[in-house]
Amino acid sequence: MKAPWQKLSAAPYSSHASVLVSIARITAIRIKILSSQLSCGSRHDETKALQMKDTLREIYDQFAETYEKNRGLFDMSEVLDSFYAKLEVKEGKLLDLGCGSGEPVARYFIDRNWSAVGIDFSEKMIELASKYVPEMQTINSDIREVDFEPDLFDAIIASYSLFHLPVDNHAELFKKIHRWLRPDGKTLFTYATEEYTGSKEFDGYKTFMGQELYYSHKTPDELYADLESIGFNIESTDYRNIGNEIFLWVTAGKRAVDGDKC
Ligand SMILES: C[S@@+](CC[C@H](N)C(=O)[O-])C[C@H]1O[C@@H](n2cnc3c(N)ncnc32)[C@H](O)[C@@H]1O
Repeated sequence: MKAPWQKLSAAPYSSHASVLVSIARITAIRIKILSSQLSCGSRHDETKALQMKDTLREIYDQFAETYEKNRGLFDMSEVLDSFYAKLEVKEGKLLDLGCGSGEPVARYFIDRNWSAVGIDFSEKMIELASKYVPEMQTINSDIREVDFEPDLFDAIIASYSLFHLPVDNHAELFKKIHRWLRPDGKTLFTYATEEYTGSKEFDGYKTFMGQELYYSHKTPDELYADLESIGFNIESTDYRNIGNEIFLWVTAGKRAVDGDKC
């Protein structure tokens, strides 16, 4: 069996010098199996969490065909333009968590001469990414099972993916995002709220494209408190209706003087 890091697909030759730099530095990636993060303290819960993860991955494998057919269906330019405008650097290195096909997020940044690393646990989604955004370096893995050296990325985006992780895993992931970001780097992520799930806090299933998908969230105020305590400045919180789904889009910056808190 291949070790997880052997699944890292080598980025094909690219004219972007920054991508080549990325390949060199990416050798420093350490991927750990953080099985403890999937556990809620008992064997039963651990089994349940693993089953849930496998199911979600299989569902996204099945969705890949529809994603390919629907390429470009939803206009995300407003979200991406507004995040890009807030960034301190106009060319840098992006991490796309739950990258799917790499469109539109990684594509947007690569078109602006950024390098990009994308992580997704669905093999089929990673195949789409290799087809449509070949400049992106991909890692076929669970988001929770990767680790990077500190201060590596200028921007980290989790577009429509974080809400599929149990809320108990969020703080740990936010701490990692904080560590992986350069000082003044920023993160943008989609957060599920009452507007989508109908409950102030949620941990359960909702139907999406005919399938029951797992979603998890706290209240926005609890989320903001977590982010602040980790060392983020919350820069914007926007409820956006895209494709008739309302989600909260949060932009948070790593304070330049704080250093790491984790
Ligand atoms: C709704 S799609 C969003 C794809 C892309 N970010 C976009 O904005 O179009 C969610 C993606 O997150 C991935 N995903 C969900 N949970 C994940 C996890 N724990 N680890 C890695 N990928 C995950 C799925 O495989 C899927 O490709």
